[in-house]
Amino acid sequence: MKVAVVGATGAVGETILRVLEERAFPVERLGAFASRDRAAAVRFRGQPHDVVATAYEPLAAYDVVLFAGGDDASKDLGRALADAGKLVADNSSTYRMAPGVPLVVPDVNPHALGDARLAPVANCSTIQLVLALKPIRDVAGLRCVRVATYQSVSGAGRPALERLEEEERALQTGGTLPAATPLPSAIARNVIPQVGSFDADGNCTEEQKILEETRKILELPMLHVASTTVRVPVRFAHSEAVFVETERETSAEELGAALAVQPGVQWLREGIVTPRDVEGGDTVFVARLRAEAGSHRHFQLWVVGDNLRVGAATTAVRLAELMLTARRAESAA
Ligand SMILES: NC(=O)c1ccc[n+]([C@@H]2O[C@H](COP(=O)([O-])OP(=O)(O)OC[C@H]3O[C@@H](n4cnc5c(N)ncnc54)[C@H](OP(=O)(O)O)[C@@H]3O)[C@@H](O)[C@H]2O)c1
Repeated sequence: MKVAVVGATGAVGETILRVLEERAFPVERLGAFASRDRAAAVRFRGQPHDVVATAYEPLAAYDVVLFAGGDDASKDLGRALADAGKLVADNSSTYRMAPGVPLVVPDVNPHALGDARLAPVANCSTIQLVLALKPIRDVAGLRCVRVATYQSVSGAGRPALERLEEEERALQTGGTLPAATPLPSAIARNVIPQVGSFDADGNCTEEQKILEETRKILELPMLHVASTTVRVPVRFAHSEAVFVETERETSAEELGAALAVQPGVQWLREGIVTPRDVEGGDTVFVARLRAEAGSHRHFQLWVVGDNLRVGAATTAVRLAELMLTARRAESAA
């Protein structure tokens, strides 16, 4: 299988290369693409690979294209490549809400994929959220979801991670930094209640994505979803404080039992889990599940997952695997 990764030099793209190696994805030839040419800029299976400027012609030589190069690259090329018969998984937000395009989280709604050749990867905060919400929906229905996120700096890409390191160094040494930053404010020893840009109602793009994508993936178009998304000075893995109202009366015990058998999720009956605990893994952890005082329909939980892996790279590779399986079944029929 000829496999291309667009954005191979970025935080998600580099993680995709690692996940392809780990999962033994059938890569016979790898293509690494980014915004410009660079010699031996990435490694795959221990070998250096040249990085090539992204364009339709060279990408059309591949069977599977995994996009992690931002909205522009995906918008220009994603659908065109899928229309030309390539299997495309896309980490950008470009196609997630497009009518007729399925938005699939493999352990939540794989049935929705059908024979799609273009599979958007949902927003990283949304993926870990819906993994925790699915078993709750299945057991007791969902009426309302409120979320406060604590999102790692890697979620804003490699330049933001580098900025965090520079700010930490400057705080230690008393040095000064360039004013230009990829984040809306200083991040070291700080928190920033803004992820993305604001709309006319005062919501930021991340909050809008959580609303729309959660409804689409859970197939609950009227679900009440509200969030405040916050960037915190953590390098990897997002955390979420989640408040749910169920349709039917239930108990923390019943919900815990459902979470315990949800693929992709590990429920901790006791204790806590932090971003550092889950870094580098593909499991979403749920802890601190409890009923609100005196209620049988209001519950709180703490959800933590690695944004670069389950929130992006691993999900992209798993979507490519699912599309490949569907295509092979189609050819065999
Ligand atoms: N970080 C996360 O946790 C996360 C989670 C879910 C989804 N995503 C999405 O994944 C994508 C990549 O994010 P990231 O965090 O990996 O960002 P990043 O670290 O800033 O990396 C961006 C990558 O895209 C490449 N690129 C930029 N413009 C391009 C263009 N016009 N054509 C082709 N490649 C281009 C860059 O190449 P150069 O090195 O040449 O500049 C780099 O390889 C974004 O769409 C982001 O929204 C990120």
